[in-house]
Amino acid sequence: MLKSSPAFLVLAFAFFLCFIMSTGSYVYFQFVQQWPPTNCRVRNKPCSKPRPLQIFTIHGLWPSNYSNPRRPSNCAGSPFNFTKVYPHMRSKLKISWPDVESGNDTKFWEGEWNKHGTCSEERLNQMQYFERSHDMWMSYNITEILKNASIVPHPTQTWKYSDIVSPIKKATGRTPLLRCKYDKSTQLLHEVVFCFEYNALKQIDCNRTAGCGNQQAISFQ
Ligand SMILES: *[C@@H]1O[C@H](CO)[C@@H](O)[C@H](O)[C@H]1NC(C)=O
Ligand SMILES: *[C@@H]1O[C@H](CO)[C@@H](O)[C@H](O)[C@H]1NC(C)=O
Ligand SMILES: *[C@@H]1O[C@H](CO)[C@@H](O)[C@H](O)[C@H]1NC(C)=O
Ligand SMILES: *[C@@H]1O[C@H](CO)[C@@H](O)[C@H](O)[C@H]1NC(C)=O
Ligand SMILES: *[C@@H]1O[C@H](CO)[C@@H](O)[C@H](O)[C@H]1NC(C)=O
Ligand SMILES: *[C@@H]1O[C@H](CO)[C@@H](O)[C@H](O)[C@H]1NC(C)=O
Repeated sequence: MLKSSPAFLVLAFAFFLCFIMSTGSYVYFQFVQQWPPTNCRVRNKPCSKPRPLQIFTIHGLWPSNYSNPRRPSNCAGSPFNFTKVYPHMRSKLKISWPDVESGNDTKFWEGEWNKHGTCSEERLNQMQYFERSHDMWMSYNITEILKNASIVPHPTQTWKYSDIVSPIKKATGRTPLLRCKYDKSTQLLHEVVFCFEYNALKQIDCNRTAGCGNQQAISFQ
């Protein structure tokens, strides 16, 4: 009798919510690398450096969640603290994780930590968060993987989504996700996402959620 009463259902649901909330705020990570020329092209003002870097660099490591398409963000973690990341990581991150837009690297790291890193602090502290990201960047050179597959910046040539995914999948053994930006009607390759399990150690297949439009040709410029 109790089992079917509305009170029981409400109680059960409340316990269920508590359980979900106590299991953590994220399920997996998205490790996002960006193609700086696309940042600079779609930006409404020029980038700080006149000629953007021609290599994929880190955008961020984002704790993510399948049930909620909006990633957890701005969690109640410790605020960004310079001295926890500096000095030994600083020179490395300046290469792998530069602020290609405004040129203030520290500000970029601070923004990414405060928005995303704070949501995975249960697993990665501040130093680990930046070290792990740098290691992920080092583990596969996307620029080189694409170059070896003859996918190099070109003003007019275009590719299918699968043309770009396929060499990356072959090199990493895992399915990445591609993200694009539009400049007028041109779909530009912007980001390549690798997915990692909860501990940020093992790469997993990304689920195809949002990303580049499947039907439309992709430019890489
Ligand atoms: C998904 O993220 C939301 C916050 O954005 C959180 O409330 C929820 O518990 C998360 N779900 C899981 C299964 O971790
Ligand atoms: C930043 O981290 C350092 C080293 O862990 C610590 O000594 C310092 O108190 C921290 N500063 C703030 C503002 O939290
Ligand atoms: C860069 O950003 C940091 C952190 O927000 C700030 O403290 C610093 O003043 C900025 N540097 C410049 C040159 O604007
Ligand atoms: C990655 O490959 C590109 C293109 O071959 C090269 O310019 C770059 O130096 C490589 N990066 C690293 C960290 O090896
Ligand atoms: C790209 O090709 C070069 C030359 O064949 C090879 O040495 C290198 O390991 C390849 N890199 C990747 C990331 O596949
Ligand atoms: C894809 O998303 C579902 C939830 O919708 C999740 O259970 C599954 O593990 C994900 N698959 C992979 C390969 O990450």
